[in-house]
Amino acid sequence: MTVDHAAVRAPEAGELKYLVYTSVATRTMLPEDLESILFTSRRKNLDAEITGILLYRGSSFVQFLEGPLCEVDSLMDRIARDDRHTGVRVLVVERVTERSFGDWKMGFALPKNTRPTGVDGLRDSFTDLTSGGDYDMVRQAAEDFSIWFKAGQRARPS
Ligand SMILES: Cc1cc2nc3c(=O)[nH]c(=O)nc-3n(C[C@H](O)[C@H](O)[C@H](O)COP(=O)(O)O)c2cc1C
Repeated sequence: MTVDHAAVRAPEAGELKYLVYTSVATRTMLPEDLESILFTSRRKNLDAEITGILLYRGSSFVQFLEGPLCEVDSLMDRIARDDRHTGVRVLVVERVTERSFGDWKMGFALPKNTRPTGVDGLRDSFTDLTSGGDYDMVRQAAEDFSIWFKAGQRARPS
């Protein structure tokens, strides 16, 4: 019997799952709703060695998750069943060896709309992520957001 190792490749030591999804809130999220999600996330993600960021704008969520493969899978199962949001769509899923958000048990941002500047060609990464496009565009938007988020955190007075 031959085994296709490429198709059912066992995780390598130190390999992590990096996953980005978007979803739509089932009701307007009040500050206390978001605080409650973040409180639970930070507590549970610490135990599960999951890091990432959660973004909320309009009624859309975008969340970046990274951590051990089985922990990210089981968290995604829980998140997908959560009735505070619907239409969960996984946009990016990759195996990586390094974390992009190692400092954030669950960072949070309310990104502003950047589209109304009217500058031709200025892309709005959040819209790119939530509106669905080809994988490369979504991957690029995710990368842009990582950089934007980290730059914003560094710029904050401590
Ligand atoms: C948009 C959104 C993002 C969430 N992110 C996380 C997360 O990163 N970690 C986490 O543990 N729970 C997260 N939750 C909450 C989970 O869906 C779930 O309620 C929580 O993990 C408690 O699950 P349990 O009651 O089965 O233990 C999120 C919920 C929403 C709506």
